[in-house]
Amino acid sequence: GNLQIAIDGPAGAGKSTIAKKLAEGLNITYIDTGAMYRALTYKVLKENIEINCKEKIIQLAETTNITIVHGDVYIDNQLVKDEIRSQEVTKYVSHIAQIAEVRKILVGFQKKIAEQHSVVMDGRDIGTYVLPNADIKIFLTASIEERAHRRYTELLHKQQQVSFADVIDSIKERDKIDTEREFAPLVKAADAVVVDTTGLDIEAVVEKIQQIIAK
Ligand code: C5P
Repeated sequence: GNLQIAIDGPAGAGKSTIAKKLAEGLNITYIDTGAMYRALTYKVLKENIEINCKEKIIQLAETTNITIVHGDVYIDNQLVKDEIRSQEVTKYVSHIAQIAEVRKILVGFQKKIAEQHSVVMDGRDIGTYVLPNADIKIFLTASIEERAHRRYTELLHKQQQVSFADVIDSIKERDKIDTEREFAPLVKAADAVVVDTTGLDIEAVVEKIQQIIAK
């Protein structure tokens, strides 16, 4: 069968950077599930759909094709890049991701990819809900200060105007919505290994997880 590695954790824990490197090292497919929720959110905003209009958002999810090929995200076969990382998308994505019907649709895409390829998949509910039988489950965390600091540095590099306080607030708010939603919330899977990345650089974290995989 295919190899399945699930990486979950709160915002800014370094999931995508780490997951990508692990996938490269293992020569398997990397799937950023957050990018799928971001892509749908981008389309909701672009089509001026009310963020509170659940029915319209579900309808959009049902009629939108979101795929990831070689790490690139496509909405209805159109490549999207930085536009799904905007502060506006980041602000609304958790609201859209808490709709159970939306999740079921995107999780369907995710399960299908994992049936066809060996994957390192990162998200919030991979070990608990998307791939409950994953071979390896990692729960990646770091202190809120460190997570906010990483995000802040990232935004500065992208020349986006933000204050550190706003970044902390935005991360906390996203984590709150993600952990408190009813359907497939962000929670450590019972059989996941916790890796706290506070004070560790990327290489050290990758090495730690490679050791867990090798066991
Ligand atoms: O991983 P990233 O921070 O880009 O994810 C953006 C948002 O998408 C998360 O804050 C969360 O609301 C949602 N998400 C989710 N389930 C996943 C991945 C992301 O609900 N598996």
